[in-house]
Amino acid sequence: MRTRVSKYSIYFLLNACFLFFLVGSVLAQGTTIKVKLDQPGKSVSPLIYGQFIEFLGRCIDGGIYDEESALSDEAGFRKDVLERVRDLNVPIVRFPGGTVVKIYHWKDGIGKKEDRPKRSNLIWGGEMDNHFGTAEFVQYCRKIGAEPFLVVNMSSDSPGDASDWVEYCNGTGDTYWANLRRSHGYKEPFNVKYWGIGNEEYAEPDAGKHQDVKKYIDDSWLFVKLMKLQDPSIKITLVGNQENLAWSRQVLKEMHPVCDFLAVHFYSIPSDDSYETLLQSVDAFNANLDTMRNLLNEIPDKVTDFSSWYRFPPRANRVQLAIDEWGIWDIHSKKGKGDYQMEYPYNWGQALAVGKFLNMFQRNADIIGLATWAQMVNVLAPITTTADGAYCQTVYTPLHAYRKYSQRNNVSVEVQCAEGLATEKMLDVVASVSDNEDELVVSVINLSGEKTIKANLFPELLSSAQRMEILSQIIYRAASIDLENTPNKNVVEEEIISKFKKSGSGFEVIVKPASINFFVFRRLK
Ligand code: AHR
Repeated sequence: MRTRVSKYSIYFLLNACFLFFLVGSVLAQGTTIKVKLDQPGKSVSPLIYGQFIEFLGRCIDGGIYDEESALSDEAGFRKDVLERVRDLNVPIVRFPGGTVVKIYHWKDGIGKKEDRPKRSNLIWGGEMDNHFGTAEFVQYCRKIGAEPFLVVNMSSDSPGDASDWVEYCNGTGDTYWANLRRSHGYKEPFNVKYWGIGNEEYAEPDAGKHQDVKKYIDDSWLFVKLMKLQDPSIKITLVGNQENLAWSRQVLKEMHPVCDFLAVHFYSIPSDDSYETLLQSVDAFNANLDTMRNLLNEIPDKVTDFSSWYRFPPRANRVQLAIDEWGIWDIHSKKGKGDYQMEYPYNWGQALAVGKFLNMFQRNADIIGLATWAQMVNVLAPITTTADGAYCQTVYTPLHAYRKYSQRNNVSVEVQCAEGLATEKMLDVVASVSDNEDELVVSVINLSGEKTIKANLFPELLSSAQRMEILSQIIYRAASIDLENTPNKNVVEEEIISKFKKSGSGFEVIVKPASINFFVFRRLK
């Protein structure tokens, strides 16, 4: 039998297909985001939102510091950059490197600027006049309200030099280096609490001498001893490596009594420039964090048998990770300019990946004590300078927004979707509450470039007598994941919504494609 298909039925069929496509691709429904407020939260270290600066290209000279620029203040700090850095709300800044620490002598960067020696930057090229040194760095940190974090040179400086640096910064006695600081105009100690012992010391091509972990352990032990004798309260970061577990395990095994943080570096360096590969590279780091957690669990929480003859106490808390260099380093596309292509224009897809990183840091709050994005200005950075001003890259948005909205304690979240929707893969969600549990913020990233997701968002409370009201949804998005900011154009849109429909015990929310959202709740009294 032949079936006759009329032109009307074809028309109807086409329309139905179109509608199906529209509903499927544009609005995915049936997703539930449950915030487990009935379970205790994990405290998140505020130091996970730090930044890193290095004598590399235009990060420091020509970035945050420029004595020649009309845009700088009397101290040489670029005012336009300072304003954006202040807005970033950075809790900690790591300095002076990076690889450059292997040739950096801190004693070159103190005293009268005109007397400071000019040196070749043997690592990254160019010259360093050392006008931005220890005091300028500490002063900059004070201006932006951040903790200074100094990294010592283990290659061409000695343990004694590192100990002198601690005395220069923190000494309160009537001793040479403390007095020298006073004579430079700084009566009060700088109180630098965070100190790193070397940088990526395992890296063979660098100018280091510790590629053998045993050598690193022997040398760093002496550095730590002499530095801690100057100031027993300093917090020590030792070099680890998330890809070389044997190195990390050995450092932890032998040095854990004096190791407050084990450093790991993670740059997402995707093998091609697709958005999917970028997201996969962030996921790969998640797996590394689980491995690092297992390593950290191998060592005791407390140090019980530390000889009093060391004359300083062992660490007081559990060893945590310092992800003291992280970020996105796209060498594949060759889009970056400047030294080593590191002046890079980030697109909105990369900003979404940064949000994914920050969600991951929050979820792993139990093992991450601090993290510093590499770097702060011009070099792989959220802020770029030109001769006439500074502008923000797309990645500035998540770095800024997470610092602004996230609360102090991470709470678990469960994302469920109707069968066949797979929204769990599209949505990256974390939630955090304030210490008094009155404020809740749910951060939701929609990683899909096309799908809008309608979800039921509800805080699961301990008792139904407690209630949370939703105040606002702050949305950041760009029209496409490929868009980049330029000096004259910001492609990132901000929208704030404050009206929501109730849906059962929660609220109906719309999560637009390629967006980062913060849902802000307040507890009803
Ligand atoms: O941030 C750029 C460089 O990357 C740092 O100097 C080094 O530590 C890392 O390999």
